[in-house]
Amino acid sequence: MMKSYKIIDHEFDVVVVGAGGAGLRAGFGCAEKGLKTAIISKVFPTRSHTVAAQGGISAALANMGEDDWRFHFYDTIKGSDWLGDQDAIEYMCKEAIPAVIELEHYGVPFSRTAEGKIYQRAFGGMTTHYGKGTAQRTCAAADRTGHAMLHTLYTQALKYRAQFFIEYFAIDLIMSDEGECLGVMAWNLDDGTLHRFRGHQTILATGGYGRTYFSCTSAHTCTGDGGGMVLRAGLPLQDMEFVQFHPTGIYGAGCLITEGVRGEGGYLTNSQGERFMERYAPSAKDLASRDVVSRSMTIEIREGRGVGAHKDHIHLHLEHLDADIIHERLPGIAESARIFAGVDVTKEPIPVLPTVHYNMGGIPTNVMTEVLNPTAKNPGAVVPGLMAIGEAACVSVHGANRLGSNSLLDLVVFGRAAANRCAQIVKPGAKHKPAGKDNGTMAVERLDARRHSKGRTATSKLRDQMQRTMQEHAPVFRTGASLKEGIKKIDKIFQGRDDIVVSDRSMIFNTDLVETLELDNLLPQAVVTMHAASNREESRGAQAREDFPDRDDKKWMKHTVIWCDEAGKVKIDYRPVTLTTLTNEVEPVPPKARVY
Ligand code: FUM
Repeated sequence: MMKSYKIIDHEFDVVVVGAGGAGLRAGFGCAEKGLKTAIISKVFPTRSHTVAAQGGISAALANMGEDDWRFHFYDTIKGSDWLGDQDAIEYMCKEAIPAVIELEHYGVPFSRTAEGKIYQRAFGGMTTHYGKGTAQRTCAAADRTGHAMLHTLYTQALKYRAQFFIEYFAIDLIMSDEGECLGVMAWNLDDGTLHRFRGHQTILATGGYGRTYFSCTSAHTCTGDGGGMVLRAGLPLQDMEFVQFHPTGIYGAGCLITEGVRGEGGYLTNSQGERFMERYAPSAKDLASRDVVSRSMTIEIREGRGVGAHKDHIHLHLEHLDADIIHERLPGIAESARIFAGVDVTKEPIPVLPTVHYNMGGIPTNVMTEVLNPTAKNPGAVVPGLMAIGEAACVSVHGANRLGSNSLLDLVVFGRAAANRCAQIVKPGAKHKPAGKDNGTMAVERLDARRHSKGRTATSKLRDQMQRTMQEHAPVFRTGASLKEGIKKIDKIFQGRDDIVVSDRSMIFNTDLVETLELDNLLPQAVVTMHAASNREESRGAQAREDFPDRDDKKWMKHTVIWCDEAGKVKIDYRPVTLTTLTNEVEPVPPKARVY
């Protein structure tokens, strides 16, 4: 019989889950507007994964030369391989400029030009004049931009007195009988107590699910907790087949080496010392979009031109750059290369390999960040009370491939949009609706069942099986046969959840239980990623199908919408891509061949 747990109740106007860049921006934005706001985070806010973002945040400030947000808009659509929604992309690129100025005013210590302006570097796929020139659009704080932003946003949240619940693990959404989100249940890891947070709006800002893979740049905490909760609530995720491989993860360790290295003049070579990107992307070369560079590196390795004893990686050079530039603009990666690869970057190249970095897919939302539950009749149907932002969400500004430095931008632009929307629709201090049948009971039952899981499989073992399966069957290049095999394996691993053993019964800092709940979030997302990739019979952005090498706009210019129930049963549907803009300040970009 289930132990009866005492539940501590909280009532807020807005409950934000996650305290990375998106969660903090939304959270203090709501607090600033007079809404009583809770920010719940399973880690201390400044340990959120935003801290690891290196290269910068994009905005057409034109500090280093000519630029225009319309160029940024064009680049982002082309980068997305025409799967991004053009209304959302217009909003993000236009809002980028005030968003970065706002960050500057909040105190983000950006690097500076000689005239004292925010320093901007080149990044992949960022051009001027609709592909004709190279843009320097990525605003940088050396190579620690995420760190600088996260600390600044945290201090803003303290200033506006958003209320933090730190080291609280969100377990499940509280849904009404009519399908409205009423809040979230959470477990305080520190003292083992259970908490029911009621909010007129619940904002999921829980980040990506990179840890479904064996090798990724994501922190161990990137377990897609929001996506897991959404699937358990019977709601779908969107475009989950699009997983970004960053070209330059450190070989063996997986740690990120920023694209900013190539933006500052670094380049890749194969075992013949050839700058091979000139063959694959004659114009942009090493600064082509990430999907293009990752595929090119993979081809070089496959064709026997990889470096090292096993010819299984590539060299990234920056030893030709002035050591002063490296120390001023890239100090963090010089340190990472020394620690994780034993390399002095002023003397020798860094061994690198494409590594899982970002999820373009996630919880579907509209431009106002409201979560969608699309039906054929109403593809824009909104889930009342629920919002999603940042990497957890799919708004969709990144489509099939995200451009580097558009992620930090997405966080602040849509974090702010969520706060603005809350201010429009939430009346401060309004009475909460009566609860439905559930009112958090299911979450508590699930936690209790997990706490007493008495199977034979260790959580770490099942997680390892999942990660190796994803790495093998949903990699840079995919085939129908390998994906089908991957589906068989991942579906079986999903069923293995029933045989998990949790050996620690404690409710206080029970890391075995935390990791099991995280695996419960990761596994269904691994399942939907594999199924969605198998179903999409075309190549677009990060989905590179060797058996369907071309983009097929006629059949496939549409978003995947995918559900996975508690039994592991998957349902797939599709919804249209938005090819219109919000205003007449910019023309939509019609699909065309994507070359760099
Ligand atoms: O390469 C990087 O610095 C990563 C940036 C990003 O993913 O936006």
